[in-house]
Amino acid sequence: MDTRFPPQPKRIKVPLYPQLGKLIPASVLNKNNSLMDLMSQILGMNKDKIILANSASDALYEFLRIVRVDRNKKLLVGMPSFNCIDVAEAVVAAGCTPVFTDIDKSLMMTEKNIDFMIAQKCEYFIWPNFFGARHRDRMFAEKLIKNNIKIILDEAQSFPFYYDEIKPFVDKYAHLVLISFGHSKPISGVGGGAIFMNQPNTSFQKMKGYPEESRNEAYFNLVKKVMKQRINWRSPRIAKKLAINPKREKKLEVLLNQRIGKKKYDPISRYQSQVAYKNLKTINSKKFIQSYSMRYEKLNKLLKSKEGSVGLNYLNQVIGEPASIALSLDPNRRYEIFTRFSNQSIETTWYYYPISLLDKYRKYPCETIINTIGISSSIIIIPFRWQHSNRQINRLIDSLKVIL
Ligand SMILES: Cc1ncc(COP(=O)(O)O)c(C=O)c1O
Repeated sequence: MDTRFPPQPKRIKVPLYPQLGKLIPASVLNKNNSLMDLMSQILGMNKDKIILANSASDALYEFLRIVRVDRNKKLLVGMPSFNCIDVAEAVVAAGCTPVFTDIDKSLMMTEKNIDFMIAQKCEYFIWPNFFGARHRDRMFAEKLIKNNIKIILDEAQSFPFYYDEIKPFVDKYAHLVLISFGHSKPISGVGGGAIFMNQPNTSFQKMKGYPEESRNEAYFNLVKKVMKQRINWRSPRIAKKLAINPKREKKLEVLLNQRIGKKKYDPISRYQSQVAYKNLKTINSKKFIQSYSMRYEKLNKLLKSKEGSVGLNYLNQVIGEPASIALSLDPNRRYEIFTRFSNQSIETTWYYYPISLLDKYRKYPCETIINTIGISSSIIIIPFRWQHSNRQINRLIDSLKVIL
C-alpha cells in the first residue's frame, strides 16, 4: 500500500477546510444553550438527552468509561478498521477492547461484518456514516440488537446533512449518537462535539436501586452528571481550580454513586459553541441546501463524465449531497494525481490508514480487511465544502477537467 502523504502546495489557493483562514476570534456570548436548542430541534429530541463535549471522541470516551466502570469488566466494542483513529483511541483509553471489521467497497457494512462482531461477542458497535448521511440496513440493526449489541451511531461525518432521512432509523435503533463540530466535519466548526443518548441503558447496574418508573430519567441524569464531572476532571485548568487531582480516574465509581451537579460545567469552549451554532444554523437552512445542491450537481456531472479514471463508489450510497467528497482512483496513479492537484495549488488528502494495521492495534481481534486496504490505497479527498467561495470551486472544477 502506498502510504505517502499527498505533497502539499507551497501556496494553497483551494484549501481542504476553507473556514480556518477566516475565523476571527472575538469575545462571544455563551452559545451552549442556543446550540443545544438548535440541536434538539433538528434531532427532534429532548435537550436533557444531549451532552456537549470537547469532541465526539471525548464524549465517546467519557460514555464508555462510565459503562465499563459500571460493569466492572472489559467491554468489546466493534468498529470498522477504516475509521478515524480518535474513535479507536477513545475505546482503548476507556478500558474497552476494539474489535475491527472490514467494510464493503461503497463504505457500507455487510452481514459478514455484523456476524463477525456477533461471533466475537461485542457489546457495542460504533456504526459510522462516511462523507454524509446513508441509509443503514434495518435487518442488520435488528440482528445486532437481538444479539445484545448496542448501536452507537457515529454521525461525526454526516450530521446534520439529510438528518431527517435517517432520523426514523436513529430513533428506533440508536442507543447513542456521536456528533462532531470539528473542522473536517460537515459543520466545519473549530472543534467540540456532542452525544445524544437516545435510549436508556436498562442493564445499567447503578440503576437497579431506582424504582422502575423513574429509571429512564435517572439514567439520563446520572450519565449526564457523571460525564460533566469527568470532562471537568480532564481539563487540568478546571481541575486545578476545583483542587481535584485530574489523575484520580480510578475513583469514577465513587462519582457514579454521588449526586454532583453543583459545579460549573463548561465542556465545550464558548468560541467552539458559537461557531458550531452559527454553522449549524446556516447549513440547516433551505437556502443553503439549494445553493449547495446546485454546486454539487455541477461537480457530479463532471465526475460522471470522467468515470473510468475516477470512481464514485465511495459516494454512491450517500443520500443527497455528500458533506465532503471522497473519490477512488487507480492506486498506481494516485500519487501522481495528488501531485498534479498540488501543482494547481489545491490541497488534497486521504482517509484513513486501516487502524488494525497500526502497531498498537494489531493485537486486537480483526476480520480480514481486504476492502479496507483497497479503500485506503485508492481514496482521495478533494476540497469541496459548503464554505468554499465560488472562485475556489471554479478553480477546483477547472483543474479536475484536466487532472482526471
Ligand atoms: C467517522 C468519524 N468519527 C468520529 C470522529 C471524531 O470526531 P472528533 O474529532 O470530534 O473527536 C471522526 C474524526 O475525524 C470521524 O471521521
